[in-house]
Amino acid sequence: MSDTLPLSVWPCAQQSSAVQRRGRYVPDAIAHPAKMLPEIARRAISAYSAPGDIVLDPMCGIGTTLVEAMHLGRNAVGVEYEPHWAEVAEGNLALAEAFGATGTGSVHAGDARALGSLVPASIRGRVALVLTSPPYGSSVHGRVDVRSGEVLKRDDRYSRDASNLAHVGEVELLHAVRDIFSACVPLLRPGGIAVVTARPWRRKGLLVDFPGAVLRAAEAAGLVPVQRLVALLAALHEDGIVPRASFFQLRLVRQARTAGIPLRVIAHEDVLVFRKPGL
Ligand SMILES: C[S@@+](CC[C@H](N)C(=O)[O-])C[C@H]1O[C@@H](n2cnc3c(N)ncnc32)[C@H](O)[C@@H]1O
Repeated sequence: MSDTLPLSVWPCAQQSSAVQRRGRYVPDAIAHPAKMLPEIARRAISAYSAPGDIVLDPMCGIGTTLVEAMHLGRNAVGVEYEPHWAEVAEGNLALAEAFGATGTGSVHAGDARALGSLVPASIRGRVALVLTSPPYGSSVHGRVDVRSGEVLKRDDRYSRDASNLAHVGEVELLHAVRDIFSACVPLLRPGGIAVVTARPWRRKGLLVDFPGAVLRAAEAAGLVPVQRLVALLAALHEDGIVPRASFFQLRLVRQARTAGIPLRVIAHEDVLVFRKPGL
């Protein structure tokens, strides 16, 4: 019966990001500009892996995938380019362990294009699920900082390192994303799943179909597309849909609409699901 089948829309923001993280993540984690909602990680991990499985995030930021995987009894391995965020992720893994998470977790600092040399050799061919989100256009990242009556942005950058993939051009970013997927393939078990979250963004006002480009990059790496889902970033209430967009996201849409461009506030994220060929 169709009503018992799982849907391709995941309501991931019934609770705010802050509430989802409260008591589960170290305070330093808040400054990371582009964290995955814990509910997205929980849904992807529950849907595409089983307790005891290995879950890998090659661009793990402050370790949302790893923390949620540990709480769900999976064994998590992460790689993060920025030593600072890798250290914050380690703090989050320690917290998960202290709170009785039944899975294990480890994080390794480095460039995920060299994934195979960063993670333990023992996970080769054994990873059930890769769950990750690549860095992308930062125009809507950041928190509000009001000083002397002026609205300023803070925490809108990953770092000042020009080699961080968040700071390279679009072509180089997509080549790197393809290379990172290629490095994930030998680590995945046959039939293993890769889940990537991505949002369209704007360059000089023009729409960039980043999810579409990520899909092609994954295919070029030998992964087979299985599904494109929607992670809802707004809360479903009885009387309607309540947005959770940030001040800067709202401002961008307001400015565009004033300029005659009929933008809408983005209230979803694309979740792309791929499979490694094999049994
Ligand atoms: C969108 S964020 C991921 C956030 C993560 N899902 C979380 O919830 O914290 C992308 C991350 O990729 C990292 N990154 C950038 N270049 C990288 C590379 N070459 N190898 C590994 N990580 C990289 C960035 O520093 C950033 O933390």
